[in-house]
Amino acid sequence: MLDNYNRKLNYLRISVTDRCNLRCTYCMPEEGVTLLSHTDILSFEEIKDVVNEAVLLGIDKIRITGGEPLVRKGIVALIEMLSSNKGIKDLSMTTNGILLSQYADVLKEKGLHRINISLDTLDAEKFRTITRGGDIEKVKEGILAAKNAGLNPIKINCVIKESKEEADAKAVKEFCIKNELEVRYIHQMNLKTGHFAIVEGGDGGNCENCNRLRLTANGKIKPCLFNNLEFDIREMGIKEALLAATSQKPKCGSFNAINHFNNIGG
Ligand code: 5AD
Ligand code: SF4
Repeated sequence: MLDNYNRKLNYLRISVTDRCNLRCTYCMPEEGVTLLSHTDILSFEEIKDVVNEAVLLGIDKIRITGGEPLVRKGIVALIEMLSSNKGIKDLSMTTNGILLSQYADVLKEKGLHRINISLDTLDAEKFRTITRGGDIEKVKEGILAAKNAGLNPIKINCVIKESKEEADAKAVKEFCIKNELEVRYIHQMNLKTGHFAIVEGGDGGNCENCNRLRLTANGKIKPCLFNNLEFDIREMGIKEALLAATSQKPKCGSFNAINHFNNIGG
């Protein structure tokens, strides 16, 4: 699918839940956010239908996000359903890693190609503070399990405040070098104010070359993270929503007053 600025859209990011087992300070308020009701959340059948239609329109790269995708019941079955679509060249997931040690092998076995894991610091106390209670050891176990399962290349998403020269960012990089992982630095973003920057070591945040569409957990196709536009697949139909999002994809991000990171998947 070509948009109006001649960008070829071949990448769909799918948020499978707005729930999360962490409460990262930059992502969710402490008290949590109003969660979607179960009837609003797309079923696996609906997600599969969107993916099938999207592949027909030229999507060949899919990422499963959240919230935290591994807290969605039956997530392995979804991966299995999606991986049987031969039009998907790249099937990946972004996770906080807390539950990954239990899932890495079976995800690989059911057809997940690779995985990105969030890790902003190596300091256990600081990790606990940033995530409001998370256990860094679980994430390290998850990373190890992903390596053993062969979910390569494993990328570590490290959110930074100002620069990659921050002590935490440097420590994460060292950890990655030692463990043969790739690090990507993501500048802390603010959807409401429209504060965003290009991902270092990745290709997010670069409007000119943006190839993405997003599917929210409740069935809206969003052409841009930093825009209010969304197209409801249940109201419009899947193909119509995909085409509308493509033709109305903004030239560049501005701000997003209606979504939170937990329902749009970072
Ligand atoms: N700024 C940048 N990245 C964010 N994420 C969540 N909230 C923000 C934010 N405000 C990232 C997480 C994770 C991915 C799911 O989204 O760090 O890597
Ligand atoms: Fe959960 Fe990821 Fe948000 Fe942290 S950034 S609260 S791990 S969804």
